[in-house]
Amino acid sequence: MLRVLHRIALVALISSVLLSCGPSSRVYQAPPEALALASKAVTYPKTSFVVITDPHVYDPALGVTGSAFQAYLDKDRKLLKESEELFDAAIDRAATEEADFVIICGDMTKDGEKNNHLMVAEKLKRFQAAGKSVFVVPGNHDVANGEAVRFVGDHSEPIPSVTGAEFADIYRDFGYNAALDRDPASLSYLAEPVPGLWLLAVDSCKWKDNRPGHHAITGGAYSPETFGWIEATLMRARQQGKAVIVFQHHGIMEHYPHNAKFYGDYLVDDHDAVAEMLSTFGVSLVFTGHFHAQDISRRVFDEGRRTIYDIETGSLVTSPCPYRRVRVTDGQKAVIDSRFIDAIPSHPTDFKTYAADYVYQGTIKLADEALIKYKVSEPGRVKFNPQVSRAYVTHLKGDEKARIVIDTDGAGLWGKFVMFMQEDLLYGWTTDLPPADNRLTIDLTTGKSE
Ligand SMILES: [Fe+2]
Ligand SMILES: [Fe+2]
Repeated sequence: MLRVLHRIALVALISSVLLSCGPSSRVYQAPPEALALASKAVTYPKTSFVVITDPHVYDPALGVTGSAFQAYLDKDRKLLKESEELFDAAIDRAATEEADFVIICGDMTKDGEKNNHLMVAEKLKRFQAAGKSVFVVPGNHDVANGEAVRFVGDHSEPIPSVTGAEFADIYRDFGYNAALDRDPASLSYLAEPVPGLWLLAVDSCKWKDNRPGHHAITGGAYSPETFGWIEATLMRARQQGKAVIVFQHHGIMEHYPHNAKFYGDYLVDDHDAVAEMLSTFGVSLVFTGHFHAQDISRRVFDEGRRTIYDIETGSLVTSPCPYRRVRVTDGQKAVIDSRFIDAIPSHPTDFKTYAADYVYQGTIKLADEALIKYKVSEPGRVKFNPQVSRAYVTHLKGDEKARIVIDTDGAGLWGKFVMFMQEDLLYGWTTDLPPADNRLTIDLTTGKSE
């Protein structure tokens, strides 16, 4: 009984460090007409593109000095002060990539500030100047966010966020004006960046339920209306022989063991049904962000006949500060590579170490706060915090190899018990579900990867 109570307490503890959980329960029933088209082969056109996500741009003019901003940073692990430099560095480098277009999987801004969205949109014009079209979707931080503020000395002041309509207007040249179709129920849309390739930009966020002055909802979902719009759009794609690539903010499958149990808000609600639905209509590649980690997962349906990949890219403001370049070849291979920002003007030589240390120390602070709430003694926290942080940082980089061995010496009885109960999570973060995360080639014909 004690063990059960402690497990309940620990789940609450872990949720307070990052997020809550929500198992996927809905079962997808494919319409017969979709199944009739399921075996129809599609050919992807040759193309290449860049994937950027979670730049969380924050204009330094909104305040980067003073105790209020510092207090905010102490509860956050993002390189917010450097976010503009990181976004500029990523654009400068990615603009030189051999690529036809760029997709950005949301969390454009720190907290949906209109000022920051306008800054992002202005900077994205540089991709267009380099001959690359850009397509964006919102992340959970981007729309109707009650935490849009500026920092002045020891306090913060509310500033305007954006409505859904304003988001679409600000990014009109980055997806919305070029859309072949738009979902009336969300900020989702359909584009055709290259003839024969449909790009389905899905708004997986719950911004319509955000409340003024409150934290924006972290979780994501396809509303029934959006689910139906996506099915209808994918049916048309099958009928017209278009290959489809999907991108959105929230993940559609677990990226580590126990992902749904501990951090369900990082996966779209009913993620099993969503993955099965997309796969039923022939979608093989889904690009996501949100967790700030480099990870690729896959699911296989229909006795191995269908494989769908969730290619999650890490955040520009979280070490290792990656973006991806994807090449689709005539031979129907998707070749995924990762690049890393290794210098910015304020850290020309030491950026990699600085960024890695920033997230490591930030996670230690968050773990410590959570453990204080659960009355773990100081020796226990000193023992435990680095282990949590090492496991988390291991997951952020992808291609996890070293399984963590939990060291409980000197942690005290309660501390030892808490560490024991964290085992599933630390195991999850240090266990890489197949396939590889940073470099991967997917055969789009067979669904296999190497
Ligand atoms: Fe994010
Ligand atoms: Fe997010």
